[in-house]
Amino acid sequence: MAISRRSLLLGTAGASLLANGCQSSLTAAKTEAKGAFPANFPNNELLGPQVGQARLSFNENPYGPAPSAQRMIEYAGKKGAYYPLGASRKLSRMIAERHGLEPENVVISAGSAEALSATALLYGQQGPIVTPRLFFDVTVMYAQRLGLAEIQRVELTSDMNMDLAAIEKQVSAETGLVQLCNPNNPTGIMHDHQSLRRAVQRMSKITTVVIDEAYMELVDEPEKNSCIDMIKESDNIIIARTFSKIYGLAGLRIGYLLAAEETASKIRSAVMSWTSAPALAAAIGCYNDDQFLQYSKSKILMAREMTVDAITNAGFEALPSQTNFIFFKTGKHANDVQAAFKEKNILISGQYMDYSEWSRVSMGRLEDVEQFCSALPEVVASV
Ligand SMILES: Cc1ncc(COP(=O)(O)O)c(C=O)c1O
Repeated sequence: MAISRRSLLLGTAGASLLANGCQSSLTAAKTEAKGAFPANFPNNELLGPQVGQARLSFNENPYGPAPSAQRMIEYAGKKGAYYPLGASRKLSRMIAERHGLEPENVVISAGSAEALSATALLYGQQGPIVTPRLFFDVTVMYAQRLGLAEIQRVELTSDMNMDLAAIEKQVSAETGLVQLCNPNNPTGIMHDHQSLRRAVQRMSKITTVVIDEAYMELVDEPEKNSCIDMIKESDNIIIARTFSKIYGLAGLRIGYLLAAEETASKIRSAVMSWTSAPALAAAIGCYNDDQFLQYSKSKILMAREMTVDAITNAGFEALPSQTNFIFFKTGKHANDVQAAFKEKNILISGQYMDYSEWSRVSMGRLEDVEQFCSALPEVVASV
């Protein structure tokens, strides 16, 4: 058999592929060489905090994605040509199994925000949405902006907790939806479980109630404090969960709602898109990764303790947080405090509604939180 120069270079298989005119691998290599590479963005301007920046403004978990998720993201990337049907079914089954539910009870969406927005659109058209004055209001505001919902906000208690008694008073047969957030964002406060359950039980006899549990995995006793089991009792209770917080997948965009089958199906029909394959694969990879979850939680708790100490030592009030962020009162304007921190390359939140003297800081990488803590007294004094 004659050995050509080409088969010496490529091997026999490579030579025969070329001989057959199958040049796709070479074409792919050329296309790839023309595309973008992470090295083209050395200051991280595309994704994540810029180099040297302490990003403490979005309640992310910078220790994610877990290696278990990263493996699956790589795998999903390679299968990116295909719609991710099997992955969606698998994740629904995994989530359902943990809670003694059926996959039909699970609505997966691009971040919990997508399914929460769909819920606000659907139920907001049936009547006003009753909420605490301060909570994660992005999704109900979305429905409001489209003219499909009116929001009725109920004042917080004097200690900045949701005022459930006042919320219940506001609820009537005309109410389209009640939306609660527990623990609440931006306050970080977790409501007493038993009184929350009782109030939700009563309100769900009159209207539909959403409890957004985005941060529930971070609280002291997540199982005891969750209301997920309540969806077995009533078609009118919806629970929201996300992979953006302790799971560290915020950039992949994946979350879910849990509800009775008919309710879930109604919301699923209003969700606008499909969740991406890398997001589903990542979630499947790390959903049961207890080692990663415990590691993340331990880092967050360490950061929280350090931050509460720094805030109180500086003479400011910090609300009792069960989450990966702390709401604290400096007495200075929150937007000015935010700007002063930004000068030092530390990002925190600005003003919420008219709570102008309150700031929110997230628990990021420990070294970033340390930077925030040591800068705090000087930065606030400079405002
Ligand atoms: C309470 C709460 N719910 C929902 C979300 C939305 O998260 P995602 O759409 O990333 O799941 C957030 C994001 O910060 C949040 O704080």
